[in-house]
Amino acid sequence: MTADTAPRQTWSASSYDTHARFVSDLAGGVLDWLSARKGERILDLGCGDGVLTADLAARGAKMVGVDSSEDFVTTCKALGLDARLMDGEDLTFESEFDAVFSNAALHWMTRPERVVAGVRRALKPGGRFVAEFGGHGNVAAIMTALEAVARGHDVDRALAHPWYFPTTEAYQAILEKHGFEVKRIALIPRPTRLKTGMAAWLSVFRQPFFAQFGARADEVVRETEDLLRVALCDDAGNWTADYVRLRVEAKKL
Ligand code: BEZ
Repeated sequence: MTADTAPRQTWSASSYDTHARFVSDLAGGVLDWLSARKGERILDLGCGDGVLTADLAARGAKMVGVDSSEDFVTTCKALGLDARLMDGEDLTFESEFDAVFSNAALHWMTRPERVVAGVRRALKPGGRFVAEFGGHGNVAAIMTALEAVARGHDVDRALAHPWYFPTTEAYQAILEKHGFEVKRIALIPRPTRLKTGMAAWLSVFRQPFFAQFGARADEVVRETEDLLRVALCDDAGNWTADYVRLRVEAKKL
């Protein structure tokens, strides 16, 4: 199976709201780096359910959101946002944004050079790209457990952990190759409490992997959760995901 034919992650805005609200709640750091100004035209790349897009619009930025999930785009439009169904690896904008912003989306796009080239095309000269996503070492324990479970069953291992989590050095090199000057870049460990637990996280964020097991999917989610308990669950039963963020600000040269 090639990257183009592999089952894609799908999203439900309501389940995202229940199990993944922390994604936008914890975006304060990257929003500070963006430091959006009133009247700026900003592209939100991988806008999800539009909570941050709406927040930036409320601060006076002229926002456009793009996402590859129809459910998310519909949810954004219901909030009154200019949201468009678009693949982040095939952005079609030309020199129209003061900034491109992205939170917790770029690790789903496994052809980063296509993404960065599209971001550069979308920006006006001198425009900035400010993003946060999973960096090297992100969800390392979770990936190891998924890999172990995949090896123990006759399933497609490529679906276990398809994400892109680069080092700062690797991502900086891609940005520079595509005509950006990197202003700042950092890996930031951010252990993240999962209020609705690990099984819910696994089911929401790795849905195509577990879908392979059909009626046994819930059982295999529990098997994965059991492997993770020793590392990520405390004595009181609280789950914490081992997130590491890569945060970057770069300027189009
Ligand atoms: C993340 O935000 O780092 C992430 C989310 C889902 C799967 C993997 C990583």
